[in-house]
Amino acid sequence: MKDRLSKIKEEAIADIKSLSNLESLENIRIKYMGKKGELTSVLREMGKLTKEERPVIGQMANEIRQEIEQELSEARERFKEKLKEERIEKEKIDITITKKTRKLGHRHPLVATIEELENLFISMGFSVVEGPEIETVEYNFDALNSPENHPSRDLSDTFYITEDILLRTHTSPVQIRAMKTMKPPLKIVSAGRTFRFDDVDDTHSPMFHQLEGLVIDEKVTMANLMDTIDIFIKQLFGKDMKTRFRPHHFPFTEPSAEVDVSCFSCKGEGCPTCDGTGWSMELLGCGMVHPKVLENCGIDPEKYSGFAFGMGIDRITMVKYGINDIRLLFENDNRFLEQF
Ligand code: DAH
Repeated sequence: MKDRLSKIKEEAIADIKSLSNLESLENIRIKYMGKKGELTSVLREMGKLTKEERPVIGQMANEIRQEIEQELSEARERFKEKLKEERIEKEKIDITITKKTRKLGHRHPLVATIEELENLFISMGFSVVEGPEIETVEYNFDALNSPENHPSRDLSDTFYITEDILLRTHTSPVQIRAMKTMKPPLKIVSAGRTFRFDDVDDTHSPMFHQLEGLVIDEKVTMANLMDTIDIFIKQLFGKDMKTRFRPHHFPFTEPSAEVDVSCFSCKGEGCPTCDGTGWSMELLGCGMVHPKVLENCGIDPEKYSGFAFGMGIDRITMVKYGINDIRLLFENDNRFLEQF
């Protein structure tokens, strides 16, 4: 019986050592120590032994059972540990990995200015509309009452695509589009790119930006125009800024005016920047919409009148942000752009 017990012990331990998973561990326990297990059946046969043999074999069988249990529980721990490690390995997140990030940009000073201007006009009841950068000669010149021989029509001043199509030289054709598609009363602004055949220097660029405004209604007067411009300038540059209207000529307005504002450096005191005049010159052009322009768009000049204005946005941006070279606005140099 002693031999049988030793054999059982050896086999059990060998079985346990060769295990590959937790489930088969339980099978082994049953094989040796379950109700019909090998060790259990040996113990059952104890009755057949002599009085002297019984305690000796009993003790041996007990020790073997304890040893097998010990081996089983160690194997169980080993498997659990292994499973844990496998799970950790599987669920590992590598926090050192670098994610592809995209640098967040921000508004270009020009765009920021355009939005500020648009918002100012929106607060005064204007709507914002858009017009194409590629225009017809008809809308850019003819419908705006520009004379056949006007110098701005010259090939040396304007980028023509065909005889009838060009890159718009100003935002004023948006007036025509608005009047042809919307019924008065109307109150719109439109900002965007404009193009002229200009040599590049610190204040000139063949591509620049304008904002156009148009108001058409019954009984609109020059006083409405002057008041609107004055309120706008004060909101944009500050309450102390004054406006000055100088008579001028534009084919699409009559009367026409150019507007100056208090010098941005001295606010009107007179300083070297403004040659002591206290004025910053030509911030915008404006006037009462010419009756011929109204007629060209199918609006009755006897019933309706209106005013229009147009301003360069690049210059306003430069004044607002203290930029002294227009080229900086278009070169996309990060060292410049990151300053805003
Ligand atoms: N279009 C003119 C220019 O580019 C500016 C201008 C003047 C616009 C008078 C207007 C206006 O709407 O009424 O120089």
